[in-house]
Amino acid sequence: MTDRYCVFGHPITHSKSPAIHKAFAAETAQDMMYIAIEAPVDDFAGAWRTFVADGGKGANVTVPFKEDAYRLCDRLSDQARRAGAVNTLKLEADGRVYGDTTDGVGLVADLKRHGVQLEGARVLLLGAGGAVRGVLAPLLGESPSELHIANRTAHKAESLAADFTDLGNILGSGFDAIGGRYDVVINGTSASLAGDLPPLPETLFNDGAFAYDMMYSAEPTVFLAWSEARGARCVDGLGMLVEQAAASFAQWRGVVPSTAPVLSALREQLK
Ligand code: ATR
Repeated sequence: MTDRYCVFGHPITHSKSPAIHKAFAAETAQDMMYIAIEAPVDDFAGAWRTFVADGGKGANVTVPFKEDAYRLCDRLSDQARRAGAVNTLKLEADGRVYGDTTDGVGLVADLKRHGVQLEGARVLLLGAGGAVRGVLAPLLGESPSELHIANRTAHKAESLAADFTDLGNILGSGFDAIGGRYDVVINGTSASLAGDLPPLPETLFNDGAFAYDMMYSAEPTVFLAWSEARGARCVDGLGMLVEQAAASFAQWRGVVPSTAPVLSALREQLK
């Protein structure tokens, strides 16, 4: 039987994951299918069990189920344990469920693809929600000189940073403590969704600095428009979406797909 994979979310109709994984499967000649499933908000575990009973071998998990997915795993990657969330489920040969989170690996891969040097860089990360928690371990793994998390609600950034101090030089604060210039500034808040901009100082960027928004849209987000006007090189999160998908695909199928063709096709569709 053809191996089955899916993405679980609620809502899920606009997910790009089926198109991405179908393109990966075609490119790497994998016999698999991949669909989108809208799971009921109060029974993610039931939806996963039904999927497995129907031949499901693995899944991506998106809002609002990443914590539910984390709870049903028998085994977790270190990154997923740190994140408290899972975006990739894999059914192992013995029937146990393995969980990983590939968002941070996807972000780092996309930054590197754009030639961003993280080692020794001063990095500012805006936001302290689930999206930011999920990328901290891989970012710290690149040895920035400093990883500063700034958030509207300061205590959330402080406690988040405290959970990761063993992995590198990380600190958390409110926006008011943003100081000096940064080499890389990443927006992980959901402020862009509301068309809002976190309060940022004019002197935020070093020469040649890089601004990244974990969100993507046809038009630049408010954060990227603001950053571009202040001389930063700007990129949105579409590449992160494709790279995290590639990392999930590699876990399931043992082959690493090329991301560039899929990314340019998605970019065209966004226009
Ligand atoms: P996600 O899973 O996308 O991270 P979340 O956990 O709800 O979602 O976190 C949203 C993040 O965006 C938080 O850091 C939030 O700041 P607070 O912790 O102060 O709520 C941030 N955020 C949302 N709207 C914002 C806005 N208009 N300005 C600044 N930060 C905002």
